[in-house]
Amino acid sequence: MNKEKILKAGKIASEVRKYARTIIKKDVPLLEIAEKIEAKTEELGGKPAFPVNLSINNISAHYTPSHDDKTLAHGLLKVDFGVHIDGWVADNAFSVDLENSEENKKLIKASEDALDSALKLIKDKGVVDGVVVDISTNETGDIISKTIESHGFSPIINLSGHSMDNYELHSGITIPNVNDNRKIKFKEGVYAFEPFATTGSGKVHDGKPSGIYELKDTKNIRNPISREVLEFITKEYNTLPFCSRWVVKKIGIKALFGLKHLEDNGNLYQFAQLVEVAGSKVSQTEQTILISEDGVIVTSE
Ligand code: CO
Repeated sequence: MNKEKILKAGKIASEVRKYARTIIKKDVPLLEIAEKIEAKTEELGGKPAFPVNLSINNISAHYTPSHDDKTLAHGLLKVDFGVHIDGWVADNAFSVDLENSEENKKLIKASEDALDSALKLIKDKGVVDGVVVDISTNETGDIISKTIESHGFSPIINLSGHSMDNYELHSGITIPNVNDNRKIKFKEGVYAFEPFATTGSGKVHDGKPSGIYELKDTKNIRNPISREVLEFITKEYNTLPFCSRWVVKKIGIKALFGLKHLEDNGNLYQFAQLVEVAGSKVSQTEQTILISEDGVIVTSE
């Protein structure tokens, strides 16, 4: 674990979040917002750990603009972005109300308070023998769901936070948004907490293909365009998620053929958009923590 790089990624994420809040306004193209956030990340010395997700209303996650996207910012917009330094990630999200809706604002406050309550709970605890004492994942899940419910909303139970490792955005441990009765202890490492609050039923299902991919297998592919795309992805993103927009920018429109071919061949996995089942609005707030012998630190505060 490289603490220095983890903390640096967090600092940059914090700066990027402040910047992002200044450029997000109603009717600004999502494409412009995503590109500005990603450019700011690089300007500050980081790299995007995954494509900026700009998911509106009932789309909970995994919407990133395509290279020719015409969607304008509106509604309840969730901005989920990541910064990495040599594969060490700060994963972050906030939500914005772009229609001056009381309900949106309350929903956003619910996910913010839920995150705060979970972070408060874990930040107070000591770290002994590499483990945070007196707390496990079901307890942070419990306070997250209870806080959201106290605002009159539901947590999304099949979306959760996660442990992270080098070039691994989800490295195996689930940080639930409800009490799932699985008493997993927090060991030294990096974790993202990300409560989602909704006016709906509290579940998401797969929607349209997102254009966000992850490398699964570097096995050879004969077609020269597909091979060029595969080589670029392996070198540039390693095992972190990327999107068609980024690859089109680098290789041109022919990259879309390559991506399709690589997906069919099993080299790539494409994520689906995640959509609230009842079509209801969703808010999200996310922060990354580092647990080490120094205690629990929110890296991107
Ligand atoms: Co996350």
